[in-house]
Amino acid sequence: MNSIANLIDTMEYGPAPESDDIVRTWLAENKAGFGHFIGGAFTRPGKTFEVISPATGETIAHVTQGTADDVDAAVKAARSAQGEWAALSGHERARWLYALARRIQQHARFLAVLESIDNGKPIREARDIDVPLVARHFYHHAGWAELVETEFPDAKPVGVCGQIIPWNFPLLMLAWKIAPALAAGNSVVLKPAEYTPLTALAFAKICDEIGLPKGVVNIVTGDGVTGEAIVNHGDIDKLAFTGSTEVGRLIRRASAGTGKKLTLELGGKSPFIVFADADLDAAVEGVVDAIWFNQGQVCCAGARILVAEAVADRFGALLRERMKHLRVGDPLDKSTDVGAIVHPVQLARIRELMDKGVSEGAQLHQGDAPDGCFYPPTLATGVEPASTLATEEIFGPVATLTTFRTPTDAVALANNTRYGLAASIWSENVNLCLGVAAEIKAGVVWINCTNVFDAGAGFGGYRESGFGREGGREGMHAYLAMPAPKAPKADDAPAPIPPAPGLGGAVVGIDRTAKLYVGGKQKRPDGGYSYPVTSAKGEALGLAGHGNRKDIRDAVEAAHKATGWGAATGHNRAQVLYYVAENLAARADEFASRLKSFGQSASKANREVETAIQRCFWYAAQADKFDGAVHQTKSAHVTLAMHEPLGVMGIACPTAFPLLGFVSLVLPAIAMGNRVVAIPSQTHPLAATDLYQVFDTSDVPGGVVNIVTGERDELVKTLADHDGVDGLWYFGSNAGIAMAEERSAGNLKQTWCENGAARDWTGPDGFGRQFLHRATQVKNIWVPYGE
Ligand code: NAI
Repeated sequence: MNSIANLIDTMEYGPAPESDDIVRTWLAENKAGFGHFIGGAFTRPGKTFEVISPATGETIAHVTQGTADDVDAAVKAARSAQGEWAALSGHERARWLYALARRIQQHARFLAVLESIDNGKPIREARDIDVPLVARHFYHHAGWAELVETEFPDAKPVGVCGQIIPWNFPLLMLAWKIAPALAAGNSVVLKPAEYTPLTALAFAKICDEIGLPKGVVNIVTGDGVTGEAIVNHGDIDKLAFTGSTEVGRLIRRASAGTGKKLTLELGGKSPFIVFADADLDAAVEGVVDAIWFNQGQVCCAGARILVAEAVADRFGALLRERMKHLRVGDPLDKSTDVGAIVHPVQLARIRELMDKGVSEGAQLHQGDAPDGCFYPPTLATGVEPASTLATEEIFGPVATLTTFRTPTDAVALANNTRYGLAASIWSENVNLCLGVAAEIKAGVVWINCTNVFDAGAGFGGYRESGFGREGGREGMHAYLAMPAPKAPKADDAPAPIPPAPGLGGAVVGIDRTAKLYVGGKQKRPDGGYSYPVTSAKGEALGLAGHGNRKDIRDAVEAAHKATGWGAATGHNRAQVLYYVAENLAARADEFASRLKSFGQSASKANREVETAIQRCFWYAAQADKFDGAVHQTKSAHVTLAMHEPLGVMGIACPTAFPLLGFVSLVLPAIAMGNRVVAIPSQTHPLAATDLYQVFDTSDVPGGVVNIVTGERDELVKTLADHDGVDGLWYFGSNAGIAMAEERSAGNLKQTWCENGAARDWTGPDGFGRQFLHRATQVKNIWVPYGE
């Protein structure tokens, strides 16, 4: 037995178990199994599967495996509820969301204990982090419901949302999905993860308790097969998914060309950078929160610790010492730091990856863990940048430790990943931190803190960590639709390009071949082919280069080299765009004649040129005004929401409006600092190729705008496949949309695909802030202040 003297010596904790009686009672009441929650009522349990508590291995519930018919019933219920829900005033919806928030707070202990039992996470985290954030999310979005009509006056709800969530933060991910959807006037069908469906069912009960209008929230349980039924359902307008990059990619492919709006919040391999002048003790506690929080099963976990060589030994020693003191075990014990891994399957996955890491030369430093579904806190050293442990998302309590010498090395190592979810930077020099934050490709950057969340700031990734943001104003965009341009009468199908003539074939004005424009230089197409461009009456107007795959690749490479453009000030970019306007105006007659030669009337041609000049002014004006924000989040923090360019963008232009369509798409992209590879109208490319001289004389740096003419859909295939392209705008045929979205799944590039005939480029559809939103992504940088 421990004497007091002994206890003071060992500093051991006695058990501090949280009572689970209320949850056990609820589970006992539902012993027969849980059904789905559809149309405001629980269905009778169907074919069920077991839900286990990972800490003990016991079966705690039986939950229904949702079938395609179940999903269909839920979608029908959501559809029939959505109109009335959207027709409520924002204020009325706000009151419902407020009621949900209140009821969640009233049931906070129940929900925290249930989450802890179902997921294995320490009760301390469920109680102090998950559940309070859930309530905060509903309160915050009650606010958005109230404000949506005035803050987003032109937007409408998307409709019925299919939402699929993972097991690491089951109730929190539900809140991140449901709260903004409901605030915006959508109805939802949500599927929780198969390992952790219970808090979603408890939430359904809460919806029932407060009398939420039936069908607004529907919960269907099941595994990936049920998820697929949601993804493939024909009457869903928007899909929102959080989970593995692998499944995210499947969903991108499956939904290509269906017109469903899509947001993906996927995996990560986030860097945790410690500079030599960091407060090392604070940074050690940061690591505890970065990778040992929630057993490391966190998409934004700081899994790659990068530490300045000068302090690496000291930091490593402090970290190993701290690791030894982490208490791993019973999640319901209030003094547990690290709980159970969510499921034996996940534990096996972690072990397999770790075995591979060790076989590749990693050395493991580990704390203790009990038998069962637990994994010890682990630090892996001797890990090469290209090895499994440095590149794969482990989703367990495992961090790698690597050293660097200079800030440039640190940034290079940090960005050496296909992901881009989060980063954490530690230094007492805040200038250095902000400089590095700007360089890092990630949607969230924490300075001298980590894993800080709030409903008021957007969360989401760059690159293969997905697209779209959850939380704050940014997150509302994902659940609102701008009024779609009028449905086109006809598909945007360009005139086919005739096969290249054989020897002795017709030759059209040999010297009038417009070349491609790559890296600021005119360039012959790689294949050496051109194609004839004709007027509406079939008269030969000239030849345009018939670009191929190689030309696109060269153009992407040239765009990558033009790195200075993104770093230029908004003012500098504006100056260049004004100069483009000036030079375009000087040659207005020439451009109008060119458009007339395509068969346009004089007044239409003049209007198109005049509007193109106006667009240059409008985007020049916006170049230094499309500001980010400082979000209201935690106390003593500023959360800077910065608009950053996507990077290198591919833009395929519509067939009609050969000048204005091109200008209206390329200008917002470059105004925001992107570099572009553009494919002009296939039928009338010569209006765009005439712009080469305008760009040359307007100080547009080489490589910022690259133009490849040819068969639009063939060229888009290469752009969509290309890993060096970060965003793709496609304005073309319906078949082309499906192709572009499907092929863009490779590196999960952001896409904006529309029928090219839908927009009237001369009117309000042809420009606006929406274009700037599409051309940027938000990086949220958290900076705490004070002592
Ligand atoms: P997962 O991506 O398979 O599961 C996430 C959700 O998607 C679950 O609700 C699941 O039922 C559903 N789902 C699975 N296949 C689907 C499909 N074909 N269509 C529609 N929905 C589908 O993740 P899993 O297998 O549970 O975990 C595997 C790895 O994924 C983890 O080790 C971790 O690396 C990563 N992961 C990342 C998460 C994140 O937040 N970024 C969350 C969960 C897992």
